[in-house]
Amino acid sequence: MESIKLIICKDKNEIDKIASNIISETMKDNKKPVLGLATGKSPIGIYKNLISKFNNGEISFKKTLTFNLDEYLGLKEADHNNSYEFYMSDNLFDKVDIKKKNTYFPTLLGKKENKDWEKFEKILSKKGPIDIQLLGLGTNGHIGFNEPGSSITSRTRVVDLTPSTIKSNSVYFKSKDDVPTQAVSMGLGTILEAKKIILVAFGKEKSDAIKKFFDLNEFDEELPMSSLITHNDTYIVIDEAAASKLNKTKIKKFLLDNK
Ligand code: GLP
Repeated sequence: MESIKLIICKDKNEIDKIASNIISETMKDNKKPVLGLATGKSPIGIYKNLISKFNNGEISFKKTLTFNLDEYLGLKEADHNNSYEFYMSDNLFDKVDIKKKNTYFPTLLGKKENKDWEKFEKILSKKGPIDIQLLGLGTNGHIGFNEPGSSITSRTRVVDLTPSTIKSNSVYFKSKDDVPTQAVSMGLGTILEAKKIILVAFGKEKSDAIKKFFDLNEFDEELPMSSLITHNDTYIVIDEAAASKLNKTKIKKFLLDNK
């Protein structure tokens, strides 16, 4: 826990500002930055800030490589707009100077028999390590699509989504039946190889997972986020709502000890 840096922000805008600054500083520190990227609603404001930083000349993505955390398997053709690849183009890639050939996803074709994810791990081990990995948080404590029960040494692989994740993600689909039940996700072991990790979470629905995390002192398979306890350079950036179930005295001490 000593290496975890917790930042509690007054609101989401502050999370976006702090997280995008940490990412842009990492980009400036590296000639060929390697970013690990996430999807969902949590990173949208961060990507907006990175686009502004690109527009005002502060950063360039020309030499940046990106590896996305996860991708659905078995998306229907009509739901292509729900693919994480579409999300990334829409929220970041089409608005900056990144070369599309330098953006990698764990599955390109969405078909199990293609085993793209084995190739993805090979490319990552050749071009990596990831300089900074951005993570969101599932309400059940998952990171990427590593659901409870995932091994701390897991690699990029096919995963079955839990009913709670399918329910959370169904807001993006016409019907719950259209939500894929499987995905390909970087493993916890893959994620932990990143040099720096930044997990962002906002809102009350994340407060149980955040509380469980700070009640633990070691990795517990039931809370995949707890694998971050074993990493040596992790930022956890959350808002007051996500922090609302934390024990105030304990967290005050934690913040002082980990300054
Ligand atoms: C999905 C993604 C995760 C993401 C999580 C939280 O399950 N696979 O990578 O972190 O949802 O999403 P949101 O940021 O929308 O709450």
